[in-house]
Amino acid sequence: MARILVTGAAGFIGAAVTKRLCARGDSVLGLDSLNDYYQVSLKEDRVADIRSVAPERFTFKKVDFSDQHALTAALAGEEFTRIVHLGAQAGVRYSLENPRAYVDANLTGQVNMLEIARERAVGHMVYASSSSVYGGRATYPSSVDDRVDHPVSLYAATKRADELMSETYAHLFRLPLTGLRFFTVYGPWGRPDMALWLFASAIFEDRPIRIYGEGEMYRDFTYIDDIVTGVLASLDSAPSDDGMAKPGGSMGPHAIYNIGNNLSEHLMKVIDLVEQACGKAAIREYHPIQPGEVRRTAANIEAIQNDLGYEPTVRIEQGIPAFVDWYREYSGV
Ligand SMILES: NC(=O)c1ccc[n+]([C@@H]2O[C@H](COP(=O)([O-])OP(=O)(O)OC[C@H]3O[C@@H](n4cnc5c(N)ncnc54)[C@H](O)[C@@H]3O)[C@@H](O)[C@H]2O)c1
Repeated sequence: MARILVTGAAGFIGAAVTKRLCARGDSVLGLDSLNDYYQVSLKEDRVADIRSVAPERFTFKKVDFSDQHALTAALAGEEFTRIVHLGAQAGVRYSLENPRAYVDANLTGQVNMLEIARERAVGHMVYASSSSVYGGRATYPSSVDDRVDHPVSLYAATKRADELMSETYAHLFRLPLTGLRFFTVYGPWGRPDMALWLFASAIFEDRPIRIYGEGEMYRDFTYIDDIVTGVLASLDSAPSDDGMAKPGGSMGPHAIYNIGNNLSEHLMKVIDLVEQACGKAAIREYHPIQPGEVRRTAANIEAIQNDLGYEPTVRIEQGIPAFVDWYREYSGV
């Protein structure tokens, strides 16, 4: 089977994608800098978890892909035919505090990965974009055909820039590329900086939960297993260079898809479900919306449904208890 390079392999989505690729018989070369944006132990545990299920199919290298020389050295002598580029500086709020981390990982890092894809003439590179590119003036549900010129955070601006830089590589070098705009991903092995983890940990530790936007927020929550299914379906279907317009408007071999659940959920319903799963009421603290955040996200997923047959399968009524069960076991509460 194929050998695939996965960046961000110690991250939430990268580790889940790596596990599924190994489970279906591919082998994976995983890269990650194991940076300390959130606890490094969680990233190490994800790598150990992949190793425990697929020791013979998984190789891991600790490297910073924004460092061109380190990246080239790490990949010397390594073979791979496709790339899933999921490593990035994620998080909307942190981009107001540490903008340069986003420039290094998401701009320099994206160009470095595009260059690797070009030099190695890979068959396809799938990379992560974000629903945040739709900004605050979005129409709902947001479609890949909508204009996305008004990001409200630097994080969103770097993700949109990734799409634009990728477009030039598809045009100039006819490199097959797919950008995936993920909508609020959650589930086992999730991220400690995201709402569900913050809510569950606060409830178990009897701390107040901070509810932004006075609770008038809506998110298209997407369960990790559905995201992984969408990433693999994309990876296996490189956009063809046939002169036909692709989702997102490219005339080159570059497609852009939303991957969401197609249901925009009210934050208060989400909190109710977390409380039920934890078996405890939250202490609720209301705050104004934070700078850089948007009040609502909702995904139009027609393009990926039509092209790749993607269908979300997990609703928050099942996905939230599954996350809380995992959280309980992992954190020993
Ligand atoms: N989780 C979501 O809800 C969500 C939503 C939209 C988009 N995304 C995007 O999906 C991708 C994966 O997100 P995630 O939730 O798994 O985040 P994550 O932070 O868990 O994973 C990203 C990984 O990339 C690694 N990394 C960062 N900079 C690096 C560098 N310079 N070199 C090597 N490794 C580096 C980090 O150590 C981390 O393990 C990111 O591009 C993110 O922006 C995620």
